[in-house]
Amino acid sequence: MRDVLIRGGTLVTADGHRRADLLCHDGRIAAIGDNLVADDADIIDAGGCFVMPGGIDPHTHMQLPMMGTVVADDFGSGTAAAAAGGTTTILDFVGPEKGQSPLEALAVWQGWAAKSVIDYGFHMTVSWWDARFADEMATLVRAHGISSFKFFLAYKGGLMLPDEDLIEGFRRCRELGALPQVHAENGDLIAYLQEKLLAEGLTAPLGHALSRPSLCEGEATGRAIALAETVGVPLYVVHVSAAEAVQAIAAAQARGVPVIGETLPGFLAIDDSVYRDPDFDVAAGHVMSPPYRPAAHPPVLWAGVQNGTLSTTGTDHCCFTKAQKRLGRDAFTKIPNGCGGVEERLSVLWDLGVNAGRITPEQFVALTATNAAKTFGLWPRKGGLEIGGDADVIVLDPARTKTLSAVTQHQRTDFSVWEGREVRGVVVQTLARGAHVWADGDLRVEAGHGRYCHRAPTSSPATR
Ligand code: URP
Ligand code: ZN
Ligand code: ZN
Ligand code: ZN
Repeated sequence: MRDVLIRGGTLVTADGHRRADLLCHDGRIAAIGDNLVADDADIIDAGGCFVMPGGIDPHTHMQLPMMGTVVADDFGSGTAAAAAGGTTTILDFVGPEKGQSPLEALAVWQGWAAKSVIDYGFHMTVSWWDARFADEMATLVRAHGISSFKFFLAYKGGLMLPDEDLIEGFRRCRELGALPQVHAENGDLIAYLQEKLLAEGLTAPLGHALSRPSLCEGEATGRAIALAETVGVPLYVVHVSAAEAVQAIAAAQARGVPVIGETLPGFLAIDDSVYRDPDFDVAAGHVMSPPYRPAAHPPVLWAGVQNGTLSTTGTDHCCFTKAQKRLGRDAFTKIPNGCGGVEERLSVLWDLGVNAGRITPEQFVALTATNAAKTFGLWPRKGGLEIGGDADVIVLDPARTKTLSAVTQHQRTDFSVWEGREVRGVVVQTLARGAHVWADGDLRVEAGHGRYCHRAPTSSPATR
């Protein structure tokens, strides 16, 4: 692999920024300094640009079988799109079927992920619970470096687990030094509201939002925190969309409970008016869980991002085509849940965050890479610009603008929640372990370049 010398840019990490050159050798960051020279290196002129750690998206769903269909992006197209947007690592969720061995499911996901362009790791979805699952968790943590487990408080009759299983699962995480993650929405309340709305004749996508009000998320977030606090294990709350959830997390953090909140760019920018769009494809295109919230919520989420209550951003990339969303023409409960976004996360956060004066470039790096690396056992190899660390590096041109659209994106779908939005601040170069995967607007993907990230336990294992 040829060396790469990035010259003349402003290097930004979570801790600060400086003008310097950066040299990549053998897939690692080899040197940072003034006026670096290198024989026979590819030179990137980063004058006027920011040089930052590649994004880490801690929440994606590639190729996931879901609601009678399969997510439109596989690990090839999805990671190529990620690279085009400046993300160099994803953490995806392995989802065993009910009763399926998590190790067996992992083997399936490993097969699918082999064509990834960028590095990837896995979380494990705890889609069912008994002693066998608990048993295999040890192998997942110790032999496979899967140190985070997602539990669902929603999807009654499906993934939802009762509190007693959550308690057991959280205890097991504590024992193994693993981090429990929660999808926090009250599944019983949602099932009740879905039935009620359908009985009243509301079958349109709007029913999706009305059946999952923010108090369902606030209640479940508070409950998950109470369980984790009692068990004595840290907790990671995925895709926080509601003010009530932000408040529950902030209150826990204030009393010293280690709770980490993740939000998505979409929840910071889009409100629930999208579900009233007369075009079914637009309304259904925004159906995801939790849903976009009334306009009063995004400012509360921004405040949470600014004060650190919410410290990571993912995308929950789970994209479907319009044709797939039409599976729910007759009932909102049949619309596949999920939206895309793995490609747009950095540009949107730069534009709405840094350009709008809400966050600094350092906070941007923390929110898009460093905090996820530290939370999920990837630091210091990833998430920073450390000598000896992986050369996952992006060059962002703050003057370049781009109009986001399904037509120009690399994600394999004909819909974008960002359709028509102009952003200023575009990733012009993406190096994934030193390889040019995105350069000057060209996707130079190499399927299989991505390597599996074996992650360390996220805390010290505890005894019962
Ligand atoms: O609607 C969503 N979020 N789909 C992906 C699965 C999940 O719950 O994260
Ligand atoms: Zn060299
Ligand atoms: Zn979820
Ligand atoms: Zn998700």
